[in-house]
Amino acid sequence: MSAPVHEEPTSFAFDAESEARIATIIRRYPEGKQASAVIPLLYVVQKQMGRQTGSAWVPRVAMDVVAERLAMPPIRVYEVATFYFMFNTRPIGRFHLQVCGTTPCWLRGSDEVLRACKDAGALKGYGDTSADGLFTLTEMECMGACVNAPMIAVDDDYYEDLDYESTVKLIEALKRGERPAPGSARGRRSSEAEGGATSLTEAGQG
Ligand code: FES
Repeated sequence: MSAPVHEEPTSFAFDAESEARIATIIRRYPEGKQASAVIPLLYVVQKQMGRQTGSAWVPRVAMDVVAERLAMPPIRVYEVATFYFMFNTRPIGRFHLQVCGTTPCWLRGSDEVLRACKDAGALKGYGDTSADGLFTLTEMECMGACVNAPMIAVDDDYYEDLDYESTVKLIEALKRGERPAPGSARGRRSSEAEGGATSLTEAGQG
C-alpha cells in the first residue's frame, strides 16, 4: 500500500451492507423529513469507502448519490460534508490517528502522544499520511474523553490514558494487523479511579 492519491472516482453506488444500514436509518425520520438523514448517510458512504478501498473518505460523486437518495440539492450535501470535521473529503490512510490536543489532554501529555504517533507511524506532522499509506495524522479538538486524557481516536475507537510508550505499542500493533481493545491503556474501567471505584461500591446504593 502506498500513500493515497486524490483521484475522484467517476461513480459510486451503495453496496448491500450500506443499503441495509440506510433502510434502518431512513425509518427513523417522518415522511418528508428524510433530508435529516444526510449526516448518517454520509457516514455510511465513508464506511463503505473504507471497506472497499482501505481509505475511509467521501468522494464528491458519492455526495451526489446521497443528495439524489434524499431528494436534496447537491449543494446542501456538500455544505454538510465540508463543514463537519468527521468527514474526510480527501483520501486518507488506512488508520486515521486523531490526536486530541485540547487543554486537558495537553496538560496530561498529548505532546508525547503526538511524538509517538510521528515516530512509530513515520509521520511528519498533522495532515501527513505515511508513505506506506497506513496512517493519516489529524489534530482534533476535545473528543469528550478528557477524564481519561490524553487520548486519541483511531477511526471510531478511543484509546485513552496514553503516554509515549503505550501509543507506540498501539501503533506497532496496528501495523501488525492487530486491533487492540479500545479504552484505557492503564486498565481503568471506563473513567473509574485507578484501583477501582471508590463510591457506590455495593449493590443497591444510590
Ligand atoms: S481535552 Fe482531550 S478529550 Fe477532552
